[in-house]
Amino acid sequence: MEKVARLQGKIALVTGAARGIGRAVAVRLAQEGAKIVVNDLHDDDRAAQTLADVRAAGSDGCIVAADVSETQAGRRLIEEAITHMGRIDVLVNNAGVEHNASFLDVTEEDYDRVLDINLKGAFFVTQAFVSHLRDSQRGGRIVNISSVHEELPFPHFTSYCASKGGMKMMMRNLAIELAPLGITVNNVAPGAIGTSINDRLLHDPAKLTALLGNIPLKRLGKPLDVANAVLFLASDEADYVTGSTLYVDGGLLWNYAEQ
Ligand code: BGC
Repeated sequence: MEKVARLQGKIALVTGAARGIGRAVAVRLAQEGAKIVVNDLHDDDRAAQTLADVRAAGSDGCIVAADVSETQAGRRLIEEAITHMGRIDVLVNNAGVEHNASFLDVTEEDYDRVLDINLKGAFFVTQAFVSHLRDSQRGGRIVNISSVHEELPFPHFTSYCASKGGMKMMMRNLAIELAPLGITVNNVAPGAIGTSINDRLLHDPAKLTALLGNIPLKRLGKPLDVANAVLFLASDEADYVTGSTLYVDGGLLWNYAEQ
């Protein structure tokens, strides 16, 4: 029997898809037949590379540049994606940033940037997506790329933790509120993944060794580890899963031992 691709005929929009986890998600979903709307801040070489990778995976898609932290731009993103692709079935809220600062040094500008991209952006892009699904009377899938830090404290990253903690409760609320519309909502919570968000850490051997000491599986995660979890939640196999966080962290979150 021929193997049927798990997302055949689906259209997925991935925010922040020009690199890192976002790119890996775009390519993994494309490998399973989904057409991909590649979103990032700019329609540049990096976004073009993601689309090229999507095509190399045997699928197709388009690029729609938009700054999701601006509500109007987020709404336009959904509209343009529909104009290009006809509809959207799966939304992956991946765009995110973090800022390292002691609490007393956090400026309002830093706080706003982190919260506006990570939480407000996901909130209003999701709202526009849900409105599209309701108007077309179809169900759909929402997968947020959260973090172990939706649960676990991360000193010096309080804005980031506030955004991811907010994303956790947004996901739980929407899972209940949107269930009657046939929409599932889940989070994938990565631990330490080897992407550019961790550049400084990756170039600091002492910090890296200390971090690996906290990861029971003793390695950093790969973007593909995260992408495989997103694929599951976006596929029919996860039909009965909503309101959940799937941790992809090598055991980091619940690691505690007395020596
Ligand atoms: C953060 C990384 C951090 C990792 C594990 C992620 O959410 O983006 O900076 O290394 O969590 O703490």
